[in-house]
Formats: sequence, C-alpha cells, structure tokens
Amino acid sequence: MTTTIPHESATKHVTGEAVYVDDIAVNEQLLVGRVVYSPHAHARIKLLDLSEARKIPGVHAVLCHKDIPGHNQMGPVVKDELCLAVDTVTFIGQAIALIAAETEEQCFEAQRHIAIVYEPLETILDLETAIARNSLLGPPAKIERGDVDTALRTAPHVLHGTLQTGAQEHWYLESQVCLCIAGEGNEMNVYSSTQHPSETQHLIAELLGVANHEVVVEVRRMGGAFGGKETQANHTACWAALLCKATGRPVKIRLFRDDDMIMTGKRHRFLSTYEVGFDDDGTLLAAKLQLNSDGGAAVDLSFAILQRAMLHVDNAYFVPNLSVVGQAYKTNLPSNTAFRGFGGPQGMAVIETIIDRVARFLKKDAADIRRRNFYGIGTRDVTHYGQKIEHNRLSTIYEQLMTSSEYEKRRREVNAFNQQHEFTKKGIAITPVKFGISFTTSFLNQAGALVNVYKDGTVLVNHGGTEMGQGLHTKIQQIAAAEFGISLHRVKVNATDTSKVPNTSATAASAGTDLNGAAVKNAVDILKARFADALAEHWTALHPEAPTRSNAIIISNDTIADTAHPERSLSFPDAMVLMNLKQVSLSATGFYKTPDIGWDKAKGFGKPFHYFSYGMAVTEVLVDILTGRHTLLRTDILHDVGDSLNPGIDIGQVEGGYIQGVGWCTTEEVKWDDKGNLMTHSPDTYKIPTVQDIPIDFRVALLQSSPNPNAIRRSKAVAEPPLMLALSAWLAIKDAISAAANHEVEPEFSLPATNEVIVMSAEKLRRELVRDHSIHNAVVK
Ligand code: MTE
Ligand code: HPA
Ligand code: MOS
Repeated sequence: MTTTIPHESATKHVTGEAVYVDDIAVNEQLLVGRVVYSPHAHARIKLLDLSEARKIPGVHAVLCHKDIPGHNQMGPVVKDELCLAVDTVTFIGQAIALIAAETEEQCFEAQRHIAIVYEPLETILDLETAIARNSLLGPPAKIERGDVDTALRTAPHVLHGTLQTGAQEHWYLESQVCLCIAGEGNEMNVYSSTQHPSETQHLIAELLGVANHEVVVEVRRMGGAFGGKETQANHTACWAALLCKATGRPVKIRLFRDDDMIMTGKRHRFLSTYEVGFDDDGTLLAAKLQLNSDGGAAVDLSFAILQRAMLHVDNAYFVPNLSVVGQAYKTNLPSNTAFRGFGGPQGMAVIETIIDRVARFLKKDAADIRRRNFYGIGTRDVTHYGQKIEHNRLSTIYEQLMTSSEYEKRRREVNAFNQQHEFTKKGIAITPVKFGISFTTSFLNQAGALVNVYKDGTVLVNHGGTEMGQGLHTKIQQIAAAEFGISLHRVKVNATDTSKVPNTSATAASAGTDLNGAAVKNAVDILKARFADALAEHWTALHPEAPTRSNAIIISNDTIADTAHPERSLSFPDAMVLMNLKQVSLSATGFYKTPDIGWDKAKGFGKPFHYFSYGMAVTEVLVDILTGRHTLLRTDILHDVGDSLNPGIDIGQVEGGYIQGVGWCTTEEVKWDDKGNLMTHSPDTYKIPTVQDIPIDFRVALLQSSPNPNAIRRSKAVAEPPLMLALSAWLAIKDAISAAANHEVEPEFSLPATNEVIVMSAEKLRRELVRDHSIHNAVVK
C-alpha cells in the first residue's frame, strides 16, 4: 500500500480553513483567561492579595490555590507540580493566579491590581551548581555490561572528556491553548491542543474534584507539538478548566509566544562525561559514561527521558564493556519535558563524539571507525541492556549511502578545497541512527479504536492518537480503507475524543501509527468477520443448494463478494443497508498491545523495544572560520521506514526531523540570565532553522524492499529518529574547524555549534597550532 496521498488536511492548512482550538466558534459568553506567573526563580510568597483585581470591571474571576475545588496538582507521573503556587515559587513562569475577563485588556488591568510580595531565596540555575550541591530529582540509574574497569585498564588507548548538549525550545507554531465549555451539572467539554487527551481529562477531573466521566477532551489537531504537548498542554487545560468552573462561562487560554517560551519546559540540557578504551584499529573495547540532565523544578518525564538517553548511548555500535550512570538534577527552571527524540539525541551525541575523537586520535576517517563498530548480524548483536538486535539494516544502509553520496570522492574534494582556502573550510561526516521503537514504560504500549460504519457505506474512524501535523490521521485513513477493501473517500478519521476511545496513551514515542493503526485494524477485522457471517447466512438462505461459506467472502474495490460464487456480490453501501436490516451491529471497538516486550528497569535489562528504526546521513558543510557562519552544502539521507504507508508523508517527516535536529545542533541556543530569566523568549533572540538553513542540495531517500514484520502493514515508525541524523551536520562542522589546523590538533566542541562556538573553537585551535609549531621549531633548532 505504498501510496503517496496528500495529508488529509493539506488543503485546509494552506487555505486557513483548518480549525485549531483558537478557531473554534464560541458564543458571546466567551471569556479570556490569563495566567499570572512568578517573576522569581525561587521565592517565598509573603503576601497574595487578589481583592483589588476582583473589582476591575469586566473581570469575572481571579483565582488562587484556595479556589481549587479538588486537588491542587497537575504532575503527570510524580505528583510534584502544583496547579497554582501555594507559599513558594520554584521557577520563573510558575503559575500563581488566574484571571478570566471579557477582554485581554481587562485581564492586564486586573493583573496590575494583584498584590504579591516575595522573599527571594537561593537558586540553582545550572547543572554545574546542581551537581556540586547534589540537587538530585531522584536516585541515579545504572546500566552495565561486562567488566568496564578492567577493559579500560588493559585497553591500548583511552580517551576521556566532557560533553555539553543544549536545551531546545519546541517552537510549535500554535502555542499552548485550551478552550473549556461547561455542560450541565459537572460536565466539562475541553478543546485542548494536547498530545495526551486522556491525561488532560484525568488531571482536570482531579483538579475539579469530579469523576472522569464528566470531562470530555477533544483534539481535532495541534499546530505542532514535538513532545511539548505530551505533558505540558495539561497545564493550560487545567487553568482554563478552573476558570470555566468558577465562572460557568466558556473560557479560552492561549499563551502568548513569549509567555509560552518562558513558562514551559524544553529539551533537557545534559552535561556528560565519558572514558573510552579502544585498540589500534579503532574498535571500541569499553566505555564508562555518566549522563547528567537538567530536569528543572519538577520531575515531569525526566526519568523516562534519562532512561531513553541511557538506552541510546550505544547508538549503532557494539561496545562489549559499557556502563552508563544517569542522574537527573533539580534546578529552578521550568520543568524540562519530552522533545522529539526523548533523550535519544543527548545519549547519541556522546557516543558520536567518542567515535569522532577515536578517529581523530588514530588519524583515520570517522566513517571507517563507525563501520568497524556497527552491531553485527549473528555476532556482536546484543545491546548493553541485553536486547538482541534483529533485522539489522546498518551495513545495508551504510553501503548504499556511501555509494549514492559519493562519500570517498567528496572527502578527497573537501580535503583539496581545504588545502586551497585559509578562512573557509569544508567538512563532511556520516552518522547513523538506531532508535528503539516502543514506550520504555512498557504498559503505555497500548491503543484503542472505535470504528463506525453507516448505512451509506461511509466509515468514521475514532482512535486514541492525535494529529499534530505528522500525518497520523492520513495514515490511519489509508490503513482503514486498505483493511476494509474500500476506497479512501469512504473513510473519515474523527477528531480524537476521550468519550469515544478512553484511557489512551500519549501520541508519542513515534508509535502513533503502529499502535493506533493496529487497533483500527483489529476493529475492522471484527466488523468484516461479522459482515461475512451475516452475508453467508443471507446468501445460503437464498441458495440452500450451494451455501456461501463466510471465509469465502472478501471485500475489495468497494464490493463484498462470495469468491466461490462471484455472482453473489453487493456494493459496500448496499451491503451495509442489508446488514442494518439484518440487525447486525455496524460499530466495533478495537484494541492493540505491543507483544513480546518487557524489561527490568531497575536492572536495566531486557527487551524494551519492539524493533529498531535505522537511518544514516552524510552532511557536507562550508564554514567561515572568521565569523562562524556555516552553510549546509549537501545532505544525503537514507532512512528505513519499512514498507512506507505514505512515502510523501514519511519523506516529509525525515526532512523535518533532520532540519529540527540541525536547529538543535547549530543555531538554537537557550540562554538564561543569572536570575533565571529566559533571555531567548522570542524569535528575534532564538534562532530556529528557516528555509535559508535547508541544505542547498538535499537528497532524501527511503530504504527500499525492507518490510518490517513487527508493525502494521509492514511499515515502520518514522517520527523521531530522523532528528538524530542531524549529528552529521554537527560533526561535519567540527570536521571543518579541525581542518583549520590541518587536523593536527583536535578542536574543543560542544552542542549547539553556534557561530560563537565555531569561532572560539577555531581561534583556540589556531593558537594551539602556532604554539605547537613554535615548540617544534625550537626543538629542531
Ligand atoms: N511532525 C509534525 N509535523 N509535528 C509534530 O508535532 N511531533 C513529533 C513527530 N513528528 C511532530 C511531528 C514527535 S515528538 C512524535 S513522538 C511523533 O511525531 C508523534 O506522532 P506519531 O507517533 O504518530 O508519528
Ligand atoms: N517516549 C515518549 N514518551 C514517553 C515515553 C517514551 O519512551 N515513555 C513515557 N512517555
Ligand atoms: Mo514525541 S517527544 O515522543 O512526543
């Protein structure tokens, strides 16, 4: 079913007809909600007086923690996040009070009349301080295989170092937004831009002190999410629900961009250390790693993210002796959260740095060191956490991409260019990705669906997944049509709705299509079996001499027929009318849970992933050594998505993921001042990639003839893994800097490689080179 069809909302996205939360038509009762948040990173609230604010005309509610009817809590996993602060605040952007008024201006006026007195307290604003003070969010985790210390002691070569990787702002185009409309009694209808409608529902119910069945959360689509709405959409939804409950009026909160950037968490910054042992050929013998993440003020998903980082420090490489310790630290910043890759990028950056350094130490091409260390087939094929790697596609992709990208030839051309140019240098790098597909919290790997067929032969599919631009609903529509054997136009995918499919997992971990697609197939199979049984009975009653067997009935091309008696056939709509007359239910629920996975988190051992996704990228860059300006000259990507359900959408995900990763690796720098104020809270200070930053020559291909036996219609998840292909751009930049010193001294390097990092790194290198040469000359004399 490899068919490119446009995203189901492509036209609506372009014409502006697509309805986002902010576009939902509401009556004149609608109130605007506003969140009043802490300007201090850590402070005691000595006084909070809302009385003057409540008197402002047009203001319908001004609320603080005392006005919460249920639990003052919105932590998703650990209950450590207050909905509204009580007596202390622990980060700038933490909600203290809520305002609902008829206009935005009235909200601002009310906010000016809120009296709050703070007593500032000591803060922790960076990882170094958090580590020095042992400000842990929870106990450290460890995964270990082999005898690392002995292997390091006996290894011919050992390198060690530190790597910093930066935070990243999600920059979804649609900021956090929620509209709540009260129904009768305790009923509440919630229109939220959330990746996790069920969790949003459950948290609102707890907050309001009502039962889950009173709250319905609906998600038509998000204007982008990227992990930033896996847990933190809940916050805006909880605040809107409180104001709606208090006023009885519809309330909408839509965060301004700057507020959104200030209040919400980001990708976790990491400060990691490593020690690696290897032989003369560059074969890795042992690695001892420590990953430290900045969790921010609360736990959120920090432990799951740290765990995924620990499960991806091997990336594509077999390391016989490996130990990794992970620690998440508490700081006075907004709680950091899920972001495409979910710790994977932070873990992989460490091992890719290691490989790059090993290659530079041995004066070999890093591409050779990578190939040498890839997981093997039948040998060297077990990860540090004990999962055996099946259907390994690393060498297939490597061979194909090295050829199609003309890597060897271009490496020579890059070297020749660098001989001739002093202040502009080129660099090239190939990096692989092996990414585990499944939620590492195993029970989350489940999904549900509700499929309704109507008498005109149209089908309405409900499933637990949410659409954030990734094309999930398009793929689900394709899956439902193909599994039924009917045309695409008969199938519509409904807005996600907790009253249709309950208790779902977040649409995350790249597993949206795998899980929900399989649940939809399950429902379709149930319906098809029902139709076949009823039609077999019907046709047999008409032709008792030659009965129809239900297993001979198939649906294809919108027709249901008895393959043994081809004259017995009905169009799909006619068949549905008949089914209704025969009192056959035209609606079914489906369910899916990922089979054969499970692991012991405490021991760090087992099979957390159903399968792996693979890809590789070759990136060539041009760097201006004097200014740090860099251009992606060419990128070649070969990515494995199994039998693609929709190559157009999959290539879009690969391109988008790579470019989003390039942003993290190069220009996106999140900075706070020494009080904990976010300095980069708008697009003029925070630089996401634009169309100008796309590689001049961008060649993306999907690996052909590689069906995946482990997912729906032999497809493979695509969403997150391509982001990590951007490490090739990062290491290509390092390669170019290194060329500034003829690859004789190794550059100091961190992530992101901003212009500043590039210039400083090149400057330092050139100084070291001059010093080395003068020492050398002195000795010669
Ligand atoms: N693509 C678009 N256009 N917008 C998004 O917000 N989120 C990414 C990825 N691709 C995202 C996206 C993330 S973080 C995940 S986990 C997946 O989409 C979720 O969807 P899926 O599992 O259905 O692929
Ligand atoms: N990925 C994304 N989201 C998650 C995960 C994961 O592995 N586990 C819990 N939430
Ligand atoms: Mo994606 S970070 O798993 O929402």
